Order: sequence, then structure tokens, then C-alpha cells
Amino acid sequence: MTAAHTLRYAAKLAIHDNPRRPPMTQPKPTYRIRSFIRRQGRLTPGQQHALDNLWHSYGLDPTVNYDFNDVFGRDADLIMEIGFGNGESLLAMAIANPALNYIGIEVHQPGVGHLLLKLHELNVSNVRIYNHDAIEILEQRMADNSLSGVQLFFPDPWHKVRHHKRRIVNESFVNLLRQKLKDDGYFHAATDWQNYAEHMLVVLSAAAHFSNTSLNADYCERPDYRPLTKFENRGLRLGHGVWDLIFRKTAVATPSNKTL
Ligand SMILES: C[S@@+](CC[C@H](N)C(=O)[O-])C[C@H]1O[C@@H](n2cnc3c(N)ncnc32)[C@H](O)[C@@H]1O
Repeated sequence: MTAAHTLRYAAKLAIHDNPRRPPMTQPKPTYRIRSFIRRQGRLTPGQQHALDNLWHSYGLDPTVNYDFNDVFGRDADLIMEIGFGNGESLLAMAIANPALNYIGIEVHQPGVGHLLLKLHELNVSNVRIYNHDAIEILEQRMADNSLSGVQLFFPDPWHKVRHHKRRIVNESFVNLLRQKLKDDGYFHAATDWQNYAEHMLVVLSAAAHFSNTSLNADYCERPDYRPLTKFENRGLRLGHGVWDLIFRKTAVATPSNKTL
């Protein structure tokens, strides 16, 4: 054994003997594959100003357990929109449905700043915002059976096969939805990526506590209440198709051919 070997061996023993270090057999910490990559993105001066001055009126802290009736100052159906982008479609829906409370979640700060500005400009009071990973918020901050609806418009398609694992809609996401939605609560997704639409249809159709509102058991026409989103408009200009999927959570399990 060379001197270098001896030193490395001694260091290994010291690690084992040190009670303050986790044992070498400890499992590696698990990490989640996220559905987004945090892009810094440039903030306009207006967005920065909104984040500095308006966050306290609309922003939610991901470390706090809220009573959302207190947050909104009223008891109303709660709708969550995941990945709202620049928030224009969430804004339009919130204005069109003043009796509903909306929680928007987005990791991209410029989009959050944009929505804050609009909420303030138009004096909209039924929207609150998380700037955080929606999966963590759903898992850690939302009570079971508390949401009347969850919206997911044009999620990142992760179109390369090796990136499909990053797609937000998968079996564990649908299980989480089932836990957090009220009975008869809805999940509304839209995508301009056919392969992702087909994937969502397979996963949702296999889920025992969801029923498809589409008469043909596949896709829906875009309902009038869903405004065109920024991302969608871009896709339409490029000639993309659009697929809407609207499922409702059922109190009893739907047919036995379901696998989830
Ligand atoms: C393709 S964009 C669509 C934005 C918007 N819905 C639209 O249609 O214009 C998808 C958005 O989802 C956000 N996103 C992806 N995964 C997320 C997550 N786990 N939590 C919160 N936001 C997420 C991304 O930052 C991105 O802005």
C-alpha cells in the first residue's frame, strides 16, 4: 500500500468513526424531476416595481399554511391555475368570474410581475399568487378536498422523448389532483402538442376517480370561458392544433377497467 492509499484508508475510517457524520449506508437524498427549468428572465422596470411594491397585496408565502377564506376575506370556490405564464388568461377569467377565488402559481418571475401590475391596474381582488413550484404547493399547502378546479393551460411540452419524464401530467400528478380536488371538482388542461394531449388522455382516462366530460371520451372544444393564452396564440400562428381535456373528480370510483 502506498502512503497515499494509507492516508485515504485512514480518512475513510475516520468518516465511519465520526458520530456526527451520517453513516455511509444512508440512502442518497431523493430529488424530484421538476417540470420546469428556472430561467432568470429579464424583468422590465415595471415588473420589478410590481414585485417590490405589490407582492404584499397579492403574494402568498410558500412556507405558510393559509386559511384561504381568511386570505380572500370570504368563502368562495377556489380555482388553481398552474403555470399561468404572463397571467393574461388568468386575469380575464378572474374578471369574468368575480364570485370565484383564484390562486395562480408560476415559477417565472417576469410573468408574476406582469400579472401583479395588471391586478393592481384593474383593481382585481379575487386572485392571489405563488411564485413557486406548483407541485410543492399542492402537496404541502393545499388541504385535501379543497379545490373546485385546477387549470393547466399549455404546460411545457418537453417534446423530446428523453425529456418526457419532466412532463407535469403523470400518474402521481393525477393522484395528487384526486386528493386536492373536491368531489365534482374539475381538471382542465389544454395543449398544442398532440403527443402530450394523447398522453394526458391515457393517464386521466385510467384514473378511477375521474370522468371525462367529453361526449366522445376524448377531447373537448375550447369552452367560451377559456380565453386564448399567450402561448396558445403563438402556437396558432405556427399552425398548431389545440386539444382541451376536461375531467371531473367523481366521489365513487368509475369503471373497473381503470388502472390508477
Ligand atoms: C409553456 S408556458 C405556458 C404559459 C401560459 N399558461 C400560457 O398558456 O401562455 C408553461 C409555464 O408553466 C410554468 N411552470 C412549469 N412547471 C411549473 C411548476 N411546477 N410550477 C409552476 N409553474 C410551472 C413555466 O414557468 C411556464 O411559464
